[in-house]
Amino acid sequence: MLKYGIIGYGYWGPNLARVFNQAAGSTLAAVSDQQAKNRDRALGLYPKIRVFADALEMIRDPEIDVIAVATPVSTHFALAKAALEAGKHVVVEKPLCATAAEAEQLVELAAKKGRQILTDHTFVYTAAVRRMAQMSAAGELGRVLYYDSTRINLGLFQSDVNVIWDLVVHDFAILQSLMPAAPTAISATALDPMGSKQASLAYVTLYYPGNAVAHIHASWLAPVKIRQIIVGGDRSMVVYDDMNPSEKIRIYDKGIELIHDTERERALKVDYRIGDMRAPHLDSRDALSVMAEHANDCFTANKPPLTSGEVGLNIVRLLEMADASARQGGLILEL
Ligand SMILES: NC(=O)c1ccc[n+]([C@@H]2O[C@H](COP(=O)([O-])OP(=O)(O)OC[C@H]3O[C@@H](n4cnc5c(N)ncnc54)[C@H](O)[C@@H]3O)[C@@H](O)[C@H]2O)c1
Repeated sequence: MLKYGIIGYGYWGPNLARVFNQAAGSTLAAVSDQQAKNRDRALGLYPKIRVFADALEMIRDPEIDVIAVATPVSTHFALAKAALEAGKHVVVEKPLCATAAEAEQLVELAAKKGRQILTDHTFVYTAAVRRMAQMSAAGELGRVLYYDSTRINLGLFQSDVNVIWDLVVHDFAILQSLMPAAPTAISATALDPMGSKQASLAYVTLYYPGNAVAHIHASWLAPVKIRQIIVGGDRSMVVYDDMNPSEKIRIYDKGIELIHDTERERALKVDYRIGDMRAPHLDSRDALSVMAEHANDCFTANKPPLTSGEVGLNIVRLLEMADASARQGGLILEL
């Protein structure tokens, strides 16, 4: 039974506490939060756990096997580093760190200490993304031509990260599990029309080998909440609507075929394939519980998780490059 200590019991920490307390193979042993009201909230739900005002004291406790970090991004590095140095496996909320240099240090330290990092890119563990990743790997989508994501709502303005680090980060993680190759270039436009000091509106494009493209529109300024991704392959296309409670993914057997008429040099014939649509039944377990069980399996076997430290590092690198492109007015930067 792995004993978990959670650092940060604000908005997201309670979700980690719940899943690690319930998952097969783990239990919640302790919570650390700087605020007394949050420690009291945790004790109210889990009277048997221990609570700590000082996270380092909890990290040093030999009874704790795994530390999960659910604090603001700027604090992830120092806390995860202390946990790895104390010989613990760590779960770190997305994004792994505030800079790629910090994330690199964590990955190196984990390797040196023989411990694992799981970056909690929760979307990768949703049944919808797992199904799309399977379809992509099995060739059911064919060649992926494009990925188009709209991730907008009247969002919670964050003080320490912009909308790219808050929302586009999810698409970067999903793309990592869908696309057969890494992107080769990136361009981002990020705007702060409200003057909040953090961009709240972003348009990010990733370029992939073979002319494939991913475009992500993210915003905290939209009147409606849309979480929709379209993945267009040359064999089938998928629409993933995370707001749809019953049919999260719909698979369309639709596409076009171009037939070059050799007799008339420049004539091009377009054949439309309009086949069936199906909405497959998906595993109903919530993504965080799937993540928690996967974390327990990986830590017990000491093997790298699907969203390892390296995956977290790659995503932080992309986030940095998106910011760099945005600072240069959307300049396309080679990766
Ligand atoms: N996976 C997801 O889908 C998802 C969703 C929301 C948030 N998050 C991530 O969760 C993390 C936390 O976000 P949040 O919205 O819960 O923030 P929050 O501000 O609501 O909570 C953070 C908590 O951490 C505590 N804290 C800060 N520094 C601490 C320290 N050194 N020791 C002990 N406690 C400390 C604060 O007192 C606060 O209670 C962020 O990294 C965010 O990106 C992930």
